[in-house]
Amino acid sequence: MKKKIEQEKLDKVLEAGRVAPTAANFQPQRIFVLESDEALAQAKSVTPFCFNAPIVLLICWDRNVSWKAIDGHDSGVVDATIAITQMMLEAQDLGLGTCWVRGYDKRVLDKVFGLPANLESVALLPIGYPDKRSKPHSVHYSRIPIENMVSYL
Ligand SMILES: Cc1cc2nc3c(=O)[nH]c(=O)nc-3n(C[C@H](O)[C@H](O)[C@H](O)COP(=O)(O)O)c2cc1C
Repeated sequence: MKKKIEQEKLDKVLEAGRVAPTAANFQPQRIFVLESDEALAQAKSVTPFCFNAPIVLLICWDRNVSWKAIDGHDSGVVDATIAITQMMLEAQDLGLGTCWVRGYDKRVLDKVFGLPANLESVALLPIGYPDKRSKPHSVHYSRIPIENMVSYL
């Protein structure tokens, strides 16, 4: 729904991303708040999953900042993912709706938003007040049995 989000609530959501735990506390997460008509139109041009939200967050991580393990693992995606998850939980707590969106072509997104080479996008997060008639997609209730997920060793 197009109803605007109060700045106070947006600040709380962003704060949840700021205080997220990151590897070695290097804090590589970088967030763009897409709120102008132009930026929202750009978001709509890269994904069909904007859901008429008044705000879309573009969450990236900075390759020059993220922690690298001795085995070559780069923690950037993990760190950004934790920040996104915390923001989604905060949004839910505040009565807002959101959805993790990776349904876009990164090459197109990079070009549209002119992302520098050191920034890698992880997700778009449309945030807004859900329409009263909205309900979760049927897959929302579909989960694998716990025994398919957990192994006791
Ligand atoms: C990495 C990731 C990418 C996703 N990309 C999209 C997307 O592009 N569009 C969309 O509508 N939902 C997307 N989703 C939402 C999933 O479809 C949804 O979380 C899943 O079906 C379970 O439903 P639930 O979150 O309502 O429990 C994505 C979720 C994750 C974790």
